Amino acid sequence: AIQRTLSIIKPDAVAKNVIGKIYSRFETNGLKIVAAQMRQLSQAEAEGFYAVHRERPFFADLVKFMTSGPVMIQVLEGEDAIAKNRQLMGATDPKKAEPGTIRADFAESIDANAVHGSDAPETAAVEIAYFFPTLAIHSR
Ligand code: CMP
Repeated sequence: AIQRTLSIIKPDAVAKNVIGKIYSRFETNGLKIVAAQMRQLSQAEAEGFYAVHRERPFFADLVKFMTSGPVMIQVLEGEDAIAKNRQLMGATDPKKAEPGTIRADFAESIDANAVHGSDAPETAAVEIAYFFPTLAIHSR
């Protein structure tokens, strides 16, 4: 089915100047960018976005990293977009990511891991709504 998913190009990949290379992977694999914004997140925004991880030991470092520089946030649309984006990203830990995936090619560590992608339809809906009002999405 056609789905939408939320993608974030994290501060490490923005600093590396590879937004275009990552967009190209989305586009050549059938994912269309239907909304996008570049922003530096506030601490409150990053904490809210990652609220499900609030009790995890890495939460403070994650929020610090995600607010360390601008991020590129987009909605991707396409057939099976959630799983397809996760395939393109590779494993959360770049050391475990398959060769040829975004994280294998552009990420340094489990914190600075280049990209975020929603993991299920429910989280995709919540995450898209967090950053984009419906009117900001340009489908077809
Ligand atoms: P992301 O998909 O953005 O969701 C939460 C982030 O926490 C994850 O990518 C990682 O960058 C970061 N993180 C740091 N340590 C861990 C860990 N041990 N397990 C999962 N995520 C981690």
